[in-house]
Amino acid sequence: MSSCQIFTPSEIKSIRHAGKILGECLELMGKLVAPGITTKELDRAAEEFIRKHDGATPAFMGYHGYPATLCTSVNEQCVHGLPGDYVLKEGDIVSTDCGVLYDNLFTDACRTYGVGKISKDAERLLTVSSQALADAVAMIKAGVKVGDISATVQGTVEGAGFSIVSALTGHGLGKTLHQFPDVPNYGEKGTGPKLPANTIIAVEPIVCIGGDGIKEADDNWTINTKDGSLSAHFEHTLLILEDGVEVIA
Ligand code: MF3
Ligand code: CO
Repeated sequence: MSSCQIFTPSEIKSIRHAGKILGECLELMGKLVAPGITTKELDRAAEEFIRKHDGATPAFMGYHGYPATLCTSVNEQCVHGLPGDYVLKEGDIVSTDCGVLYDNLFTDACRTYGVGKISKDAERLLTVSSQALADAVAMIKAGVKVGDISATVQGTVEGAGFSIVSALTGHGLGKTLHQFPDVPNYGEKGTGPKLPANTIIAVEPIVCIGGDGIKEADDNWTINTKDGSLSAHFEHTLLILEDGVEVIA
């Protein structure tokens, strides 16, 4: 499909329900993240939390064969980090990226957390990356173009001296996890598709301290920064409204 999907009131009701579960799941991850826990333990807790809700399942599991509930990307890992035996330690940063599938509708969101006390640089990376997402949320409403969002995210990130990981983009979602349109984190104001009310997009700045550029790890999932610099990822599922936006998760 190369036009934005418009969701019905009853679909939006289901998506809100999925988003509420997802938001609570990510909040739980924030409470569990601490020195000593493994990324696999986080994954297990997320899966258990989601499945406890009638009809809700982990949205990433089985997606192109993905084997887990969460993506847990630590430090120089940008996205799609596979949960495993890695033990989080003081000073790490970890993104917990998760989706909930409910009533055949998909949601997708991510937060990056510091593990115990983190460096000043890491702290600033988290602040700027989440601010870039907040700046996008503040300007989105029906009628904005994708390029307006891209330029907003890019302005905040580059204005602070950090880099956009340009190969990784946000996306439409709802009927599937990824659908039209792509929402890049860099671009020109006034370009790209116009967003109508009642469509759903995921905006997800993926930001690094060093230079742009990625490389895939041997597990064929985890994507790292090419230069090994720290990377952070924040993502909301957003419902476009006539006069603003609703954060679904
Ligand atoms: N939030 C991730 C993205 O938009 C979802 C990854 S699903 C996975 O790319 F199956 F690839 F992990
Ligand atoms: Co996404």
